[in-house]
Amino acid sequence: MNKASTILLLLLCMGCAQTTTPPQESETTQNTTAPASQPAAAKPQSTDPEMDKFINDLLAKMTLEEKIGQLNLVSVGFDVTGPIVSENVDENIRKGNVGGVFNTFTPVAVRKLQEFAVNNTRHKIPLLFGYDVIHGHRTIFPMPLGLASSWDMQAIERSARIAAEEATADGLNWVFSPMVDIARDPRWGRVAEGAGEDPWLGSRVAEAMVRGYQGDDLTLPNTAMACVKHFALYGAAEAGRDYGTVDMSLQRMFNEYMAPYKAALDAGAGSVMTSFNEINGVPATGNRWLMTELLRDQWGFDGFVVTDYTAINEMMAHGVGNEGEVAALALKAGVDMDMVGELFLKELGAQVKNGKVTEEEINLACRRVLEAKYKLGLFQDPYRYINEERAKNTMMKPEFREAARDIARKSMVLLKNEKNALPLKPSGTIALIGPLARNQRDLIGNWSGAGDWKQAVSVEQGIRNAVGSKVRINYAKGANITDDAQMIRRLNAHGGLLELDKRSSEAMIKEAVQVARNSDVVVAVVGEAQGMSGEAASRADIGLPGQQLALLKALKATGKPLVIVLMNGRPLTLNWEHENANAILETWFAGTEAGNAIADVLFGSYNPSGKLTMTFPRHVGQVPIFYNAKNTGRPFNGEELNKYTSRYMDVPNEPLYPFGHGLSYTTFQYSKPQLSKTTLKGTELLEIQVDVRNTGNYDGEEVVQLYVQDVVGSSTRPLKELKGFQKITLKKGESKTVTFKLTADDLKFYNNEMQYVYEPGEFRVFVGTSSRDVQEAGFRLE
Ligand code: NOJ
Repeated sequence: MNKASTILLLLLCMGCAQTTTPPQESETTQNTTAPASQPAAAKPQSTDPEMDKFINDLLAKMTLEEKIGQLNLVSVGFDVTGPIVSENVDENIRKGNVGGVFNTFTPVAVRKLQEFAVNNTRHKIPLLFGYDVIHGHRTIFPMPLGLASSWDMQAIERSARIAAEEATADGLNWVFSPMVDIARDPRWGRVAEGAGEDPWLGSRVAEAMVRGYQGDDLTLPNTAMACVKHFALYGAAEAGRDYGTVDMSLQRMFNEYMAPYKAALDAGAGSVMTSFNEINGVPATGNRWLMTELLRDQWGFDGFVVTDYTAINEMMAHGVGNEGEVAALALKAGVDMDMVGELFLKELGAQVKNGKVTEEEINLACRRVLEAKYKLGLFQDPYRYINEERAKNTMMKPEFREAARDIARKSMVLLKNEKNALPLKPSGTIALIGPLARNQRDLIGNWSGAGDWKQAVSVEQGIRNAVGSKVRINYAKGANITDDAQMIRRLNAHGGLLELDKRSSEAMIKEAVQVARNSDVVVAVVGEAQGMSGEAASRADIGLPGQQLALLKALKATGKPLVIVLMNGRPLTLNWEHENANAILETWFAGTEAGNAIADVLFGSYNPSGKLTMTFPRHVGQVPIFYNAKNTGRPFNGEELNKYTSRYMDVPNEPLYPFGHGLSYTTFQYSKPQLSKTTLKGTELLEIQVDVRNTGNYDGEEVVQLYVQDVVGSSTRPLKELKGFQKITLKKGESKTVTFKLTADDLKFYNNEMQYVYEPGEFRVFVGTSSRDVQEAGFRLE
């Protein structure tokens, strides 16, 4: 096929559920033929003959209704993220109309439902028990964007391991995590749930989390099956509005968005959740190209696919069919399990009768659900995850809390620290001001369903724990998080605990100013409520909400040093804050141990090492804004009077804080990167070395970052792409040589013909402390 006809085919097929040409993995620039897609009903040959035999025997005994029942996932519990459809659950379980349950946990509750299933159904098929275990189960870790900011894959894996320990002790065997959606638009509230904007880093985080949840033996009672979500491209919603349309070129899709899903699957994730969005005209949940051709035929995924919450039903609102049609569309696309919507249950029988779907297709979906249960060991022992004794001894163990504190402080990003305003001295008087200073509810963030906010350590408590009576604390609330009564009602209807202080904002600010005047330093703890990010929580204005900026301005006017401690679920616009604060510490929603971890950083018992994994814009009008952007034909080069360049008239192009930014209490000096060769041949290894010296006054950790630019390509390439990093520890005065290794494989990308290739030519290498602050070298690839 020549280039023109390939492109034509891609254009014709983009959004066409059946026939899009999938991208090819190829060592060379030779074109390859797309593999013929399997019919959805084809019986997969697993690598486990015993499992195959078991499932074949079971399937042979099951009626069509019983098979369809296995495809139904119901919500039983309180965490509802959409309309409630599941009713008469006990009855439905007894009738064999349920394959899995989510939102139920604790050994007692899980045992009860499992007994319904095992004791009352013909084949005694156990249920799956799923839950949104997103950043911890009982012990809550920082929200995922914070976890990623640690750049510490071992700590991230450990957080997922602890989450699985606790979740499985609570009867669960399936966690709806990791969420690996790449996101470049901080208006989208769900940026809190992912690892940020970079596909390479996102892939490493995805793998670490899957390893943490699943370990290497899914049948163990302390490992849970992971569910990679949301497949696919959910983070690219138009205008940052949740559930929004996604429309993008295949090249962008595969070069910039798909890698983390693939990485999670390659790490062995057992299940995948569909996304709510459409992709190029076809809802993901009914998208056969996505769910079968790409996911299974090309990527070799052999687990099962569950929809997101009522996503099949929502295809009617997308406008692609009625109940029966959308149920058939989803099944034929390769979806195996229907979350909450019950359209599989209601419609598939009739769809078989009218010939729109085949029993073979239902067999296949049922097989995949049964295989998951088999892999979890549930057929051997349906109660293997249910153990009251283990539950008692597992939850919130001191060592789990210690791990939560450790990763919480690693997740914090020091955005600014003028003249070493931080760390604080453990003496004198601190004005502790702000609506989040005494807060506990918001610290555990959203998606912390089983977490108990009352166990969360507030900033005030954390400071007291750290410095006791050595420091006098003067507190004032200073402002509400928001004064918008309607927003407060909305937030509180979904788990928020916001109380509107009845005093006027002037009175609150006045009190805070008084407190500041009587203190040596102001620590202002400001930000968002947890419910302002997460699902269905997009914001069009991403500055500090309510009167908090007015509060900061008044505090600044006192002339006291101003330290801002931020809590928020997304990048915020912080221009005034950056210009005027002496120090800014981004703490995200740091989890159960938030207050202790924040105090560790504020007083310097931990030297901050976090780096942003998502760009902080100066202005919301800049979004989407991300470091791995491409050049234009008219890049702005600083010439103010040169009109016809790519720039805003009113705001700089540059973000406020770039990807990879994050300061330390010490300073690091980098040498120029040294390359082992200036010409790299196909199979050779290129070594890049850089010396990093700790030139400041504290021991510290540094995330040494490696970026590459493919200068000339057959299609345009980003200005920088992360290709590696190393987090190193350097004692005061110490220096280390950091070595990165690259091969041509690391330089591959999807070209215009959707072949995964590297291309000979010139490359630039950048090493540094952020995506902006780097030193450069170059080589040629032959
Ligand atoms: C909807 C969310 O999009 C998804 O992330 C979550 O796992 C499900 N609801 C289940 O709660």
